Amino acid sequence: MVSSVTKQHQYGIDPLNCKESDSMNVVLRDGRPDDAERCGVICFEAFKAISDQHNFPRDFPAPEPAIGLLTHLLSRKDVYSVVAEIDDRVIGSNFLWETASIAGVGPITVDPSVQNSAIGRRLMQDVLERAQRQGFAGVRLVQAAYHNRSLSLYTKLGFDTREILSAIQGAALGLEIVGHPVRPAKKEDLEGCNKVCERIHGFDRGQELVDAIEQGTATVVEREGRIAGYATAIGFLGYAVAENNEDLKALIGAAKEFPGPGFLLPTRNSELLRWCLQNGLRVVMPMTLMSIGLYNEPRGAFLPSVIY
Ligand SMILES: CC(C)(COP(=O)(O)OP(=O)(O)OC[C@H]1O[C@@H](n2cnc3c(N)ncnc32)[C@H](O)[C@@H]1OP(=O)(O)O)[C@@H](O)C(=O)NCCC(=O)NCCS
Repeated sequence: MVSSVTKQHQYGIDPLNCKESDSMNVVLRDGRPDDAERCGVICFEAFKAISDQHNFPRDFPAPEPAIGLLTHLLSRKDVYSVVAEIDDRVIGSNFLWETASIAGVGPITVDPSVQNSAIGRRLMQDVLERAQRQGFAGVRLVQAAYHNRSLSLYTKLGFDTREILSAIQGAALGLEIVGHPVRPAKKEDLEGCNKVCERIHGFDRGQELVDAIEQGTATVVEREGRIAGYATAIGFLGYAVAENNEDLKALIGAAKEFPGPGFLLPTRNSELLRWCLQNGLRVVMPMTLMSIGLYNEPRGAFLPSVIY
């Protein structure tokens, strides 16, 4: 862990405040690769239920992408997983991304037939306890702002609201910003990119960037011969950091698509939001960035990812 995040913050759970769903014989255990299909279907159904209920676009268009994501997560060594069962039947899961100094939660999903019975609370407590055992300085997540239950649950567990976000979607802009050239990121850019991230967030997110470079989705923006910002992707699962809004506009303008429901833009960055809207992009839904433990107020322009 880097020096700027050395302070350990205690964000433990008050055991006296634990709601027991014992009457339902809920058992928690580590996730396994063969949980992917069942957990993926629950993930699809759980998000579908809330988005349909509120008339917002679905996070996953069909079960398969959710199963694909969970297959990937259950195979990663740097992602901790927990599964909830009732009578040996899986009814929910949660994940903790352990890829940087600040851990990320999600996706957490509970079978709609047993929601609102304290199972989500237990799955959240489990990953928070794991984060504390592993010595993470803080934990973050992004929730759908229209979902009163998750907002209430996370707030009761100690999470603070840090940013109101707007998920943005639309056709690729195909725009260049003069003086801010964008190109695909290479392995050699890692050091320069990490420096930008450290300046803005106080820690680097190099591992996620390495993955994105390997997948060919990462881009960098240069100014006066140096890296002024980068994106792992301009999309739901990607994040971007940049020294200023012009750099970020260049990264957004160069994106070939915005994968997932949309990319997440801090709503109070009115100038950037206005620029996106003026260029024909649309607001899809409101979301909230929440965190517990150490949080460094970003010192630059940024787009968070939905998970980490
Ligand atoms: C979000 C989710 C994981 C929560 O799990 P759950 O088992 O339904 O929730 P729980 O019963 O454990 O906790 C809900 C808490 O919110 C409280 N709550 C619910 N609605 C509330 C409201 N409108 N105002 C205040 N409190 C509210 C409940 O009282 C409960 O608090 P308590 O634990 O102190 O009693 C689950 O609903 C789900 O899968 N939703 C769909 C997918 C999703 O949105 N995932 C989260 C992505 S960030």
